[in-house]
Amino acid sequence: MMAGRNELRFPVGFLWGTASSSYQCEGGNTNNQWYRWEQEGGILSGEECGRAADWWENAEQDFDLAEQMENNVLRLSLEWSRIESREGIWEREAIERYRLMLQDLRRRRIQPVITLHHFTEPLWFIERGGFARAENIRYFTRYVSYVTRALSDACDFWVTINEPNVYAVQGYQMGEFPPGERNMLLAIQVLHNLMRAHVESFYVIREHQPQAQIGYCLHYRLFDPANPLSPLDRAVSGLQESYFNWSPLKAAEEGRYAFPFNLFAPRIHRALGARDYHGVNYYTREMVRFDPQATSDAFGRRFIRPGSTRNDEGLDGNFGEIYPEGLYRVLRQVYKRTHGNKPLYITENGFCDTRDDRRPGAILEHLAQIHRAIVEGIPVRGYFYWSLVDNFEWNNGWHVRFGLVDLDPETQRRTPRRSASMFGEICRANAITE
Ligand code: NOJ
Repeated sequence: MMAGRNELRFPVGFLWGTASSSYQCEGGNTNNQWYRWEQEGGILSGEECGRAADWWENAEQDFDLAEQMENNVLRLSLEWSRIESREGIWEREAIERYRLMLQDLRRRRIQPVITLHHFTEPLWFIERGGFARAENIRYFTRYVSYVTRALSDACDFWVTINEPNVYAVQGYQMGEFPPGERNMLLAIQVLHNLMRAHVESFYVIREHQPQAQIGYCLHYRLFDPANPLSPLDRAVSGLQESYFNWSPLKAAEEGRYAFPFNLFAPRIHRALGARDYHGVNYYTREMVRFDPQATSDAFGRRFIRPGSTRNDEGLDGNFGEIYPEGLYRVLRQVYKRTHGNKPLYITENGFCDTRDDRRPGAILEHLAQIHRAIVEGIPVRGYFYWSLVDNFEWNNGWHVRFGLVDLDPETQRRTPRRSASMFGEICRANAITE
């Protein structure tokens, strides 16, 4: 990377890497609810996850790519349905496979970060009602206790739950993820149970790995008023933002949801202090206009800002505007709302852009916004791009591509995109040039 006047350097020790998840990358996961959803026709593109990016057999070929990019961190998730295939039946071989992956990463000087819950659960857990039932939290914490003990020699950086807000809203309110429910009160209940699961897992891990870094990550999405001067647009967009971002954050921080959501979910005990960092996943924003007919959306009609630079269009319309300043705004909000009490990691940020003609610029612009936040004193300690290679994008299947590296799922052939070499240069230099 050329040293230039506009070089923006990142703090020493900044973590550079990518994020991924088991179902999306491993392949062959047939014992969870997403596989069942796929079989039942829930994938909008009709595609199958199949071998995914083949990580169960050969994650190491992609770790080679991460090493070539001089990444010093890699976030991946464990597949609960492989580890506890039936209730109380623990699969030692699965643990050993993960151990090999983690050791391999460490040999390459890449710090592994493990997510313990990234949307998928074993079918036996689903049959017991999943996270819709508070009494099932104990199954999750038992699994957490088992794996964090078993792998404590190989990892000490944990994400308990990935995007509990997306899991609850998409699965229980919008009906787009399994189990396809459309019931807002149930979504609030599920979110609450996931938040409790995080808090309880935090103490489980802390007990046997006192030095570990433990947190969770929320998906932060901005909802801006279509007309900033309209009190109604401001009210409905503010409500959506509070519901999706700030109320869950408050619950995790203080154990209390924001009004009016606190009317539907009780307090969370022992939430205070139950995290070592804040995980921020950020992708996009939406505009919101008051519309008395949008009853199922709390009277706020959402749309993508006209004329904006955009991601490729997903089949579910979930990825729209590429809005770098939004990341800065989110970081400021999280910092302010948590009183600057813990470091922040960008646990996910990414762009679906098959042709890779917007991604390089988008990465640079988002990094410039992170740098801006750091200069202002916000302790951001790492950036994990979503994702290293193309992988199975939930209900969008293979239709949208987030990878720094292009993957042909049929042949498993990898072709690094321009973004990959650019990201490598950034990681090597610990800096960007604007
Ligand atoms: C959020 C999720 O954590 C991840 O699984 C997903 O693929 C990306 N963001 C992109 O949608």
